[in-house]
Amino acid sequence: MNDSTAPEPAYQTPTPSPHPDVTGRYYVPGFPIGEGKTDYEKYLHTVQLLSLQTPVESAISPEEPLFQITHQASELWMKLMLIELKRALAFMDSDQPLMACRCLRLVNECVQVLMLQVDLIARNISIVEYGKIRTVLGQGSGMESPGFNWLLETAPSLWAHFTGLMQRQQLDLRAIYVDYEKNIEMHTLAEALMDFDDLFHKWRAHHFALVARTIGAESNSLKGLSSQVLQKGVKTRFFPELLELRSTLTNESSVAYGGQPLAD
Ligand code: HEM
Repeated sequence: MNDSTAPEPAYQTPTPSPHPDVTGRYYVPGFPIGEGKTDYEKYLHTVQLLSLQTPVESAISPEEPLFQITHQASELWMKLMLIELKRALAFMDSDQPLMACRCLRLVNECVQVLMLQVDLIARNISIVEYGKIRTVLGQGSGMESPGFNWLLETAPSLWAHFTGLMQRQQLDLRAIYVDYEKNIEMHTLAEALMDFDDLFHKWRAHHFALVARTIGAESNSLKGLSSQVLQKGVKTRFFPELLELRSTLTNESSVAYGGQPLAD
């Protein structure tokens, strides 16, 4: 008998049916979902990716998947942020402020995703379940996050690259802000940096609020550090120059205006 006439097992056909059934399922029943047979799974390495979490059956708490996935997803978003920050640096070095802005816009949207994840975990984790999860964390701390540490290392260097670009354009920060219409590209870039600094600062404050409502602001971390150490980070700003300029311009305009009460 010619083998080619034998019917193939249905699941060996990874081609989607042009007519999904009522459930919207594309593959015939019996197709081995999640075994890496499709191009989608091959490209995204879903087999490896989805095996990186503690199986539900051996999780220390039913809320461990929430904790682990939120942190793993955050690491991926921070990885993307770092890639885009480095692209922004390169665009500044090649005198393309708008392209740098484009990268920073994505970075800034990622920070907002990180904030959403903090909200998500804050609203859904129970204090008792988190207590159980802590027992499997060793002395692990968010302070050891590689993504976070790479970002802390890279972010401040944006300022030196921005300053280099300003110098090549024979501009200073004051001119960029005072003559913002004339210098709109550089002004837009400076504001994208301001957004990044602001959002990162808000994310840290947001995380501190999460810590306060989860384990308490007065508790000790698994490293024996007070949660209050986070307060120092909340106060950190990457580009203080951008904030100082605002105070300077506001004070100057106040002096010029004189701060008189409105007439009746
Ligand atoms: C139940 C949820 C969480 C709790 C109770 C918690 C608790 C803490 C505590 C107590 C610290 C202080 C440092 C230390 O551990 O010694 C910390 C730091 C940190 N955590 Fe979390 N965290 C939670 C969720 C998250 C999430 C979802 C992320 C996402 C990336 C995250 C990222 C970080 C980072 C980056 C730091 C260092 C922050 C800094 O130095 O400003 N944490 N966390």
